[in-house]
Amino acid sequence: MLIRDARFLTSNTRVDLCPPPDRPEYAFIGRSNVGKSSLINMLTSRAGLAKTSASPGKTQLINHFLVNEQWYLVDLPGYGYAKVSKTARAEWQKMLNAYLQRRENLACVCVLLDSRLPPQASDLEFMENLGEMGVPFVMVFTKTDKQSAAQTRTLLAAYLAKMAESWDELPQYFVTSATTKAGRDELLGFIDGVNQQ
Ligand code: GTP
Ligand code: MG
Repeated sequence: MLIRDARFLTSNTRVDLCPPPDRPEYAFIGRSNVGKSSLINMLTSRAGLAKTSASPGKTQLINHFLVNEQWYLVDLPGYGYAKVSKTARAEWQKMLNAYLQRRENLACVCVLLDSRLPPQASDLEFMENLGEMGVPFVMVFTKTDKQSAAQTRTLLAAYLAKMAESWDELPQYFVTSATTKAGRDELLGFIDGVNQQ
């Protein structure tokens, strides 16, 4: 898919204030610092479109971007960020659940997973919840440039084996790097395919 145009629309904390649900929407989520904002910039080839930061907890709101006037891309705050207060975390959980359950045009959630780490409980639990809510999702492994291809393959195999313990059918997955642009064509091709449905 050629990205002709990508622009920021709104930031907010409430699902009812999101842009009209008139086009397919893809939400990017994952633990703090996993590389959500960087991946969005890589996919759209717009450095600085989504704000990135070396310190976790940068993205705090539901951020909508419009791509090719055709689909929405959403940058969500990371979960599992230990340094925020319990109250703030509970608020975020509420906002996220409302978004996931009520956003009617949500076509797919992209769950970002750090390709260097073994399966993390918070990610497995999050994907379980998506399954229970019936929200379609794919797994997107990030930061593959930070290790060898062999290391990525080993971790990936371990991840899929872990998922196979609780899922009859494994979700689709993508292997990416915001630095080398690995996985860009595959992920954009997937989005294109869902958009045509
Ligand atoms: P929060 O908004 O805080 O939840 O973080 P995020 O998931 O949006 O992560 P962000 O994109 O801000 O990236 C976090 C850090 O990881 C930044 O220092 C990025 O430069 C770095 N990073 C992200 N993706 C990659 C990647 O593919 N390769 C490398 N080498 N670094 C990356
Ligand atoms: Mg971010």
